[in-house]
Amino acid sequence: MIEKSVQMKRDFLTLWNLFPEEIERLLKRAIEMKSGIDASKCPLMGKSIGLIFEKASTRTRVSFEVGIYQLGAHPIYLNPNEIQLGRGETISDTARTLSRYLDAMVIRTYGHDLLENFASYSSIPVINGLSDLHHPCQALSDLMTILEKKGRLKGVRIAYIGDGNNVANSLIEGAARMELNLTVACPEGYEPDPDVIERARASAKSEIIILREPKEAAGRADVIYTDVWVSMGQEKESKEKKKRFKGYQINKSILSCAKEDVIVLHCLPAHRGEEITDDVMDGPQSAIFDQAENRLHTQKALLEMLVINHP
Ligand code: CP
Ligand code: NVA
Repeated sequence: MIEKSVQMKRDFLTLWNLFPEEIERLLKRAIEMKSGIDASKCPLMGKSIGLIFEKASTRTRVSFEVGIYQLGAHPIYLNPNEIQLGRGETISDTARTLSRYLDAMVIRTYGHDLLENFASYSSIPVINGLSDLHHPCQALSDLMTILEKKGRLKGVRIAYIGDGNNVANSLIEGAARMELNLTVACPEGYEPDPDVIERARASAKSEIIILREPKEAAGRADVIYTDVWVSMGQEKESKEKKKRFKGYQINKSILSCAKEDVIVLHCLPAHRGEEITDDVMDGPQSAIFDQAENRLHTQKALLEMLVINHP
């Protein structure tokens, strides 16, 4: 079998891998798919998509497996401990071999460099299902949810209150790509990645602000967003981080600073009572479970774009 042309394939490792017009088209397609208009069509019939998860997952894994099935393709979950990668086979040999069988790969891992390395040896699209640095599939769903609830993206004001982690980094890139304004409130030393901020600011027609005071960030916000204070792989820092993030909880008092029609987002899983209170999570302003559902629709549109439109 001839290896598929490396130049032709498109990866999705960060939001920078898609042009704004492509993100716009993808979101439109996701909304169309959500409406069920062509649910009986199987655009990925006969294709097989591999999934390697080195970290726990509920939403990403299940939404990808279900989405792949709904598109008519076959999802193959590869437990990293049950493939030879877990016994020391190289990334390059694994990527080159799997490229001969599969039509795309979804990978959740720790170091973002592993994804870049895998993608560089792979002749099929590689999709980032979360790394320590980025969570771009989450950002697509975040954008779709904002578009559904606010009717637009451009000029929407988001306040991200919490840890400057992978979710925050991809949200910054999503905001920069689609011209939303984003203010991050976090304790000193827990800012998003400096390279992510610099690139976003250099390219953006929107504001990317980093400050300390959660209520200042929430002021005039259309969207309030948070994530866990302790991400996967950071468990050793848990005690220290929880102390530092006291005061960064999304609660009624924070919501009262925002616009009256503010919506609340959280990528989930949540640590209820830590970064967000039960009443906010389950309250009328929460769009959190719509946001979780939208993972399915945006990832289906993404797969269609990467696997079919760019074979
Ligand atoms: N938001 C998200 O990626 O959730 P999972 O860790 O459950 O996949
Ligand atoms: N920041 C979190 C997101 C989980 C979806 C983590 O990396 O654990």
